[in-house]
Amino acid sequence: AIGFGGDLPLANWSYDEEQEGLSERIIIKFSHVVAENTPKGLAVDRFSQLVKEKTNGRVEVQVFANGILYSDNTELEALMNGDVQMIAPAYSKLSNQIPAWLAMDLPYAFRDEAQVQQAVNGEIGHLLFQTLEPFNIKGMAFWSNGFKQFTSNQPIRMPEDLRGQRFRIMPSKVLQAQFQTIGATTEDAPFTDVYRKLADGAVDGQENTISNIYTKRLYQVQKYMTISNHGYLGYAVIMNRSFWEKLPPDIQTDIEEAMRESTSYINELAVTMNQQQLQQMKEESSMEIHELTPREQQVWRQAMQSVYTKFAPSIGKPLMDKIKELHQ
Ligand code: LMR
Repeated sequence: AIGFGGDLPLANWSYDEEQEGLSERIIIKFSHVVAENTPKGLAVDRFSQLVKEKTNGRVEVQVFANGILYSDNTELEALMNGDVQMIAPAYSKLSNQIPAWLAMDLPYAFRDEAQVQQAVNGEIGHLLFQTLEPFNIKGMAFWSNGFKQFTSNQPIRMPEDLRGQRFRIMPSKVLQAQFQTIGATTEDAPFTDVYRKLADGAVDGQENTISNIYTKRLYQVQKYMTISNHGYLGYAVIMNRSFWEKLPPDIQTDIEEAMRESTSYINELAVTMNQQQLQQMKEESSMEIHELTPREQQVWRQAMQSVYTKFAPSIGKPLMDKIKELHQ
């Protein structure tokens, strides 16, 4: 390798001799688990394109979608080891390693997307990114997907309807407790297994955003969907810190700019995609869709409230205080 790259163990280097003789190219492998035509899938592609343009091809972001390179249960370790340089896991997937992230899974923590933005761009986001530092991880951005809805093979209107049902969840103790507190059982499983588990009847239902339900065709194996907006699913876009620190400053600036633009892009796109795909499922799928009324939502909020007290110690006072402020 030439120049600064000589001691950069985490990058793959290649030489592009057509460009001004011998020039180094930095490769960033970006792995994620969802389909390409989701908000996250499209935003990662946009980020890759923007990085290429801004760095005049010096940096190539190679995208691996649908969990083909690493699945949910392996990608975080791969990032920390430097086998992959970037990932964008849902918040829940950081929570076993770093319990503070459980804060983002608290049921009905956020009223709407604007409040999520206020949280991640303010003190809550700051506190969460600080927790990554000891793990050799750099927080790059928070990306939106949207609020989670329940799907199941049994109708769900009130919390008691969940009693005895088995739900697939992302690995998160808050999500587990959220279901247990209303009498359901849970099984955590990687996203890539969700369709099969529903199709096989290993679980009755699951919770997810509209775009994930739509693009993975979960509506084909679920009879009912309840628009509950009971929890939020967003992504921590994160990079291997040692890799980041060895990048030249001008490249870091280009990457940060590309990340800012991709973040605005996904945050708008997620809202419109979730709206459009809900409409599409209403029109085309055989799923019966019920939207909770504000009064019903209030019952759910109440039924899940005990989760807040239970997890306050794991989440920590500074974050809990900030979450509670959102509710005042
Ligand atoms: C899930 O596992 O259900 C989601 O986190 C998938 C994703 O990354 O949106």
